[in-house]
Amino acid sequence: MNIAILGMGYVGCVSAACLAKQGHFVTGVDVNPTKVDLINQGKSPIVEQYLDEMIQDATTHGQLRAMTTATDAVQQSDISLICVGTPSREDGSQDLQHLQGVSRDIGRALRVHPAYHTVVIRSTLLPGTAESVVLPLIEEESDKQVGQDFGLCVNPEFMREGSAVEDYYNPPLTLIGAWDQRSGNELSALYENIEAPLMQTTIRVAEMLKFASNSFHALKVGFANEIGVLCKAMGIDSHEVMDLFMQDTRLNISTQYLRPGFAFGGSCLPKDVRAIVNKAKMLGVDAPILQAILPSNEGHIERAFNMVRHAGGKKVGILGLSFKGGTDDLRESPMVHLAEKLLGKGYKLSIYDPNVSLSRIIGANKQYIDQVLPHLAELLVTDLDEVMEQADVLLIGNRTAEFRDALKRVKDGQQVIDLVRMEKNLDNLTDQLDGHYQGICW
Ligand SMILES: NC(=O)c1ccc[n+]([C@@H]2O[C@H](COP(=O)([O-])OP(=O)(O)OC[C@H]3O[C@@H](n4cnc5c(N)ncnc54)[C@H](O)[C@@H]3O)[C@@H](O)[C@H]2O)c1
Repeated sequence: MNIAILGMGYVGCVSAACLAKQGHFVTGVDVNPTKVDLINQGKSPIVEQYLDEMIQDATTHGQLRAMTTATDAVQQSDISLICVGTPSREDGSQDLQHLQGVSRDIGRALRVHPAYHTVVIRSTLLPGTAESVVLPLIEEESDKQVGQDFGLCVNPEFMREGSAVEDYYNPPLTLIGAWDQRSGNELSALYENIEAPLMQTTIRVAEMLKFASNSFHALKVGFANEIGVLCKAMGIDSHEVMDLFMQDTRLNISTQYLRPGFAFGGSCLPKDVRAIVNKAKMLGVDAPILQAILPSNEGHIERAFNMVRHAGGKKVGILGLSFKGGTDDLRESPMVHLAEKLLGKGYKLSIYDPNVSLSRIIGANKQYIDQVLPHLAELLVTDLDEVMEQADVLLIGNRTAEFRDALKRVKDGQQVIDLVRMEKNLDNLTDQLDGHYQGICW
């Protein structure tokens, strides 16, 4: 395939060398003439393992060349990869001037391009940028139409500097956010020989995934360092702690606790976070990430409260009061906090939670419920239909088959606020509850 790569920095050079090695004909474009000269002399403009030999090899065999203007490169290619920088402005926003420049260049080249062409963005862009910045500029300059004359994809790069070539050939996944099937198929062909799961999604999901990933990586580093300084202050070897931490691949290094939903609660997480934050304070250790966890969680409960407030109606039916489905444990349940907040603001509540009702009759929690939460205990009803009948707003706090089933009986005028994502496929819920349904963070 003939490929134009616009922006020959870290991402552009690594992509160019790897694609050329796979037998493609690559033209690299950069506004910096020094970088262009170096590449044409067979030298890498960046320091990265294997890259010097790969660029030398590719230029010698005519697989790679470089130039300072985009027009010829794009016109002679089937696909263009945008790899320009998106640095921070003073206020933290993304500086898009390079992206805008390169989008105009591609548009002008496409004006006289004889065939369908696929534009692929490898630069990191905030959600919405490809469709609101890149796309209109290309359409305006080319006088052509996306989906018809050219395709558009967002294909985030997951490489790490220092091991970029290895990462290119062994990515955790190949992610393609595509305007349409044709755009996605054209780009997929470039990854035929890469053994990694290839996922196709929408452009906005692909844009966001890069930010979710990098924020998480940054959070992990900050978290490990805070655990490190706390360990040091207590005379504990942080590396031994974290080596053992990583042995737990069921809860720690795992897919657990990563799905957006409602606040955490229960008898352990809030009390233990509180205790370690207090210990940090006593030791004079600044641990802003750990300190931010409980306020973030409380803010999420406040968010749910505000959703009820904006939904209108004073009668709220709560489905699920315990801190998660399948338990009767109400200690530090965020649903209890939310219910108390609503009660305090004059909402009329009816609460249905079969586990809590049962435990009130026979369980060890009976005393706790009757003594600590008598104001909520008296609002417990044992008939789900009673709640369904009366509520203006249904607040779903646990994910159970019974509650999923109850959503089929929602009446006109009732609002559903889902705190637990009753179904993975959101369309199933929004189709069924057209205009009546809101999720807390989806
Ligand atoms: N560096 C990484 O490890 C990495 C990893 C994943 C994603 N990314 C993302 O990829 C993008 C590129 O990152 P980078 O580190 O390669 O940037 P970089 O600054 O090293 O390279 C960008 C290149 O684009 C060139 N350029 C600017 N305007 C141009 C134009 N109009 N036409 C042609 N070339 C132009 C610049 O001269 C520069 O050589 C960024 O959005 C970055 O966030 C970087």
